[in-house]
Amino acid sequence: MKDQIEAIQAEALARIETAGDARSLEDARVAILGKKGTLTEVSAGMRDVPKEEKAAVGQLLNAARQAITASLEGKQQAIQDAADRQALEGIDVTLPARALHHGSLHPLTIIRHDAIRILRRMGFALAEGPEIEDEFHCFDALNTPADHPARNEKDTFYFDSGKLLRTHTSSVQVRTMEGQAPPVRIIAPGSAYRRDEIDATHLSVFNQLEGLYVDTDVSLGDLKGTLEYFFHELYGPKTEVRFRPHFFPFTEPSFEIDVKLEVKGQAPRWIEVAGCGMVDPAVFEAISSSRKDPAYDPEKVTGFAFGMGLDRLAMIRWGIKDIRLLIENDARFLKQFA
Ligand code: PHE
Repeated sequence: MKDQIEAIQAEALARIETAGDARSLEDARVAILGKKGTLTEVSAGMRDVPKEEKAAVGQLLNAARQAITASLEGKQQAIQDAADRQALEGIDVTLPARALHHGSLHPLTIIRHDAIRILRRMGFALAEGPEIEDEFHCFDALNTPADHPARNEKDTFYFDSGKLLRTHTSSVQVRTMEGQAPPVRIIAPGSAYRRDEIDATHLSVFNQLEGLYVDTDVSLGDLKGTLEYFFHELYGPKTEVRFRPHFFPFTEPSFEIDVKLEVKGQAPRWIEVAGCGMVDPAVFEAISSSRKDPAYDPEKVTGFAFGMGLDRLAMIRWGIKDIRLLIENDARFLKQFA
């Protein structure tokens, strides 16, 4: 048996030595160490070796296996090295590398992050809600009666089921109040949907960020201070901000907020950026009957709410003239934000 092992080892090492590529090396490995390989088969003979010789034969077998494995590994490395060297031949390593293309955040993402960062610093927490809403959360709870124009089929996307695509993220405010007693201080960024004709300033899907603050003694002064601070942080401390009386069904009094846009070479102009107001007691009453508790008793709590279009905020910050640029994914446009 010893002779046999030695013969197999010699034959194996010779075969490995002559293998010229990975394929024939693998064939050699299988022929030697595989299930029916020469060394495997001779190992089976250990059974019949007399007891006193077992140790010596076993040692010989192990030594053969080690020598063969080492030789296989060495040969594999040599074949790999040769292949690497060949692959490098003819490559000019002095050529300058190709530029790396790295992506960048979309302008809407940048403005959303900025807005969220500012408001979170003031203690607003993020809230979420479904984009497919029911009429209660989008309209009824927000004091928007059935004959209000916003509820018209011409303005809102309805499903056959009676559900709809939310026209604003104010529905998240309703859901938050249903689930949580005051104090509430939340912001809800998200998509909103309206059946608008698409043009340079309108899309049928846009991005909103709405906020709500409810507690005892929340005042109009809090609303004004919060939003002025917000726009100064977003657009710079010198930005002029004004509040214009307006109407929303869910707030009273209500305002629209304008910021003064100063572009070099153009006359300064006021641009509307947000709607806001003190939460209408009728909203608190709707919440109270939905919750069936007095947590939102309009005699005890007050609050303010605001909502803005992130698309609009981005257009103002970067002087983007057509809102459609924000959804066309034209790399020539987006590259400018890298
Ligand atoms: N929901 C209003 C809109 O979509 C914005 C708004 C929110 C106004 C909260 C007042 C208070 O236009």
